[in-house]
Amino acid sequence: MSIQIRHADDDDGHTIVDFIQAMLQEMESVGGHEVNHDGKFWRWYRQEIAELIRMRDRLYLLAQLENSAVGLLEGKIIRLNEVFVSLDSFHISVVYVEPKARRRGIATALVREALRWASKQACREADLNVLSNNDKARGLYKKIGFEIFQHKLRLRLPLNA
Ligand SMILES: CC(C)(COP(=O)(O)OP(=O)(O)OC[C@H]1O[C@@H](n2cnc3c(N)ncnc32)[C@H](O)[C@@H]1OP(=O)(O)O)[C@@H](O)C(=O)NCCC(=O)NCCS
Repeated sequence: MSIQIRHADDDDGHTIVDFIQAMLQEMESVGGHEVNHDGKFWRWYRQEIAELIRMRDRLYLLAQLENSAVGLLEGKIIRLNEVFVSLDSFHISVVYVEPKARRRGIATALVREALRWASKQACREADLNVLSNNDKARGLYKKIGFEIFQHKLRLRLPLNA
């Protein structure tokens, strides 16, 4: 069974948002923030994604297995803040593979294709955030060559403090 990686098109809005929701729910279960339950927000977000797919600095890749979409990568090109020497960086915000299709190299194929695209767009680095207890994803990124360069710290605050 061969995996195909393709760029999303105008008809993929629903699939993309379904994958993003599935990823966020899975992240919630391993320490991520609680996902928004408001259906109105998600209807708006579908329209937003339809716009974002067309933007040149955004990347939406879908992984296909037997003609059905089983994985998603979302990323965008970011120009570093002007206090730094000018540099375009590629930020990966979503990598998701449906549970039934995991451990077949699909996420690896998505990330590698995204990095090829980012290089062609003259990006000089790529980055992403990963929950510290998301061992599967940390293993994926380490295997591809990502290294920790920053720690993001969180302190939970009491209500009415
Ligand atoms: C993380 C995720 C994207 C991996 O997708 P996948 O297609 O199964 O990944 P791959 O088959 O390309 O695996 C690549 C490497 O990731 C690591 N990995 C993936 N699944 C793993 C698991 N269940 N246990 C341990 N390591 C795992 C391994 O290092 C693996 O390499 P190997 O198979 O040679 O050991 C998938 O599990 C997923 O969608 N998880 C929920 C969403 C998520 O965590 N996204 C990342 C947010 S930062």
